[in-house]
Amino acid sequence: MKVVEDTQILQTAFATIAGEVDGYFSKILTVPDDPRARLFEAMRHASIGGGKRVRPLLLTAVADMHGVDREAAVRVATAVEAIHVYSLIHDDLPCMDDDDLRRGKPTVHIAYNEEIAVLAGDSLHALAFEILADPETHGDAYVRSELIATLAQASGPHGMAGGQMMDLEAEHSKFDLPTVTRLQQLKTGALIAAAVEMGAILARIAPEGRTALRAYARDIGLAFQIADDLLDVEGDEELAGKHLHKDADAGKETFLSLMGVEKARQQAHMLVEQSVGHLSGYGEEAELLRALARYIVERDR
Ligand code: IPE
Ligand code: IPE
Ligand code: MG
Ligand code: MG
Ligand code: MG
Repeated sequence: MKVVEDTQILQTAFATIAGEVDGYFSKILTVPDDPRARLFEAMRHASIGGGKRVRPLLLTAVADMHGVDREAAVRVATAVEAIHVYSLIHDDLPCMDDDDLRRGKPTVHIAYNEEIAVLAGDSLHALAFEILADPETHGDAYVRSELIATLAQASGPHGMAGGQMMDLEAEHSKFDLPTVTRLQQLKTGALIAAAVEMGAILARIAPEGRTALRAYARDIGLAFQIADDLLDVEGDEELAGKHLHKDADAGKETFLSLMGVEKARQQAHMLVEQSVGHLSGYGEEAELLRALARYIVERDR
């Protein structure tokens, strides 16, 4: 019953946010009739028409729970997705994971070239902050600066980029469980947590009122990366839209290399239960967040 309800809630919510994020990217990435055209085309290639849009959905779910203007929430959600897409373009580069397939399409350095892929990533990175700094996104400068600070912290050396650095080290260092946990929290958890936090910022929830949402986000962030690592071992490339079996081939230390598939799966399920538990103070309005948490470990892509 829960599974059927979840599927219905999620299908509609994913389809809606995908259309909104595609629409907004499409609007702000109009290809200019000048020598920058291929840069914009590459950014469109990477950002439109693909990806699960989990981070935008998390952000808008939190915003919707509190009656935030949908258009503002979609703009902010697109800023978070822009950081995510930039991180994927750079993650796939030959000097990083060297992947030629992403979201079922050739990666940007394959479809265009390496130089353009670097610039497309750089540009999406900057574009995220351009969106957040725009008074059209939010009229209150305090809210804008809090959104910017939150996304900046989650993207840089204290967040995603720092996690990617640890991930490089994980190929030739023996990491223990606490270190791998920290790696995953930075690499993947930080941006997921920022999505939830930014929904709360838009809803003007004071920091002391964000405890339950933060705890929820921390647990699903970790569960999300364990699920990614499980997919890398036992997923279907066709469904995932990217090459798998990369981690073991690279000799990378992950939750799976440390605990094995079954224990890692149990850990992910435990984290999801725990994350849903943090939402006990909310009623029906948090049903989408609960369904999303369960989806995160059951997903096949
Ligand atoms: C993949 O992220 C990279 C990680 C941080 C694990 P997603 O699984 O959200 O990828 P898309 O956005 O759906 O393509
Ligand atoms: C990448 O992690 C996380 C980012 C910050 C981009 P992975 O390298 O495991 O992501 P996939 O498996 O290529 O999507
Ligand atoms: Mg990687
Ligand atoms: Mg990768
Ligand atoms: Mg992976």
